[in-house]
Amino acid sequence: MDAPDLDDVRKRYHFALAPEDYERLPFYKALLHELEGDSLALELLASVRLEQRNPMLILATLHLAALRGHPVLGPIYDAARHGQLEDPEDAARRVLAVLRETPDLLSGELWRSTQTNEPGRGAVLQAVVADLVAETINEINVIEVGASAGINLCFDQFPVRAKDDGNPLTLICEDLTPIDRSRRLPPVNSRVGIDPNPLDLENEDDRLWLKACLWPEERRRHERFDAIVAARPSWPSVTELSGRALERLDDAFDLSDANSLTVVFNTWVAFYFTPEEQRAYFNELTRRCRESNVAWISIESTMVQWPGVKVDEEAHHRGASQIVLTRPKSSPRLWGWCHAHGRWLEQTTDS
Ligand SMILES: C[S@@+](CC[C@H](N)C(=O)[O-])C[C@H]1O[C@@H](n2cnc3c(N)ncnc32)[C@H](O)[C@@H]1O
Repeated sequence: MDAPDLDDVRKRYHFALAPEDYERLPFYKALLHELEGDSLALELLASVRLEQRNPMLILATLHLAALRGHPVLGPIYDAARHGQLEDPEDAARRVLAVLRETPDLLSGELWRSTQTNEPGRGAVLQAVVADLVAETINEINVIEVGASAGINLCFDQFPVRAKDDGNPLTLICEDLTPIDRSRRLPPVNSRVGIDPNPLDLENEDDRLWLKACLWPEERRRHERFDAIVAARPSWPSVTELSGRALERLDDAFDLSDANSLTVVFNTWVAFYFTPEEQRAYFNELTRRCRESNVAWISIESTMVQWPGVKVDEEAHHRGASQIVLTRPKSSPRLWGWCHAHGRWLEQTTDS
């Protein structure tokens, strides 16, 4: 077996967050800095299967131990969530000390996958879907690839505002270019998700893992998650198919009414595909859009490079995610850019 590439994982820790997020999250900034400089933390990440070799998995695993009540980690993460960490660098050092004393705490959980189910991306989906269907209000079907717990299959159930209005379910999104938020969204006929490991909001372990994937310093995301768990039973029902994207796409289309437009979307998923899977997925989706009443919305990091879609260097450096829209009978076009969690959105002029 080849020796682990520690330089590669060091870079992964170093570039784990977008520059704007490093500024907002002093505890995670300090923790990533500690992890990047620690040989055990490098080895642990290097031991993870390639498609999940993401520092978020290490961060989520530590957070999971805290949420389970670890005597040292629990209070640190709790203080971080309440904005009460007085010395984030010292807290990060204490977390690293726990990792060094009890590496099993992490290594026993690294079978998991990063499954952050981020509703903030719904603010972006709402804008792109509204633009896609323009003035028509015909019903659509939605298929989400990499649906995690299926929260974004209900992307149309969330209010979107530029500022916090006190409702924990509100998605706060700053539109950097004019976006017509008054447009009506089309009624949704069917909502089908595909995921190798669908999570269930009614299952306690799944809920805990979804919370662990949130960033501890973002209290509002935690409150929103709790509000979603409470509201979910009154939302439209969704179907989740278990399996990889290409294994279950046909089944998902079989569950969708062929007389309506089917919108397939993936948000922060193709990043986890193998290069072969990415190519095959792109070919499959673009073929379906060319040949039938299908549209495809892809919101991914700039690490995912779709053929014919140019990734802008400046967007890459500010850690923006690329929004690519393929309309029916059309080819993929860059629609715009957004924050990875939908905190801001910008439509490109020629989309
Ligand atoms: C980072 S989460 C994003 C979840 C959701 N799309 C969102 O934006 O909130 C990535 C999800 O993709 C799923 N996934 C990974 N590989 C996949 C594949 N080959 N096909 C379908 N889903 C996959 C994971 O299980 C995980 O739930």
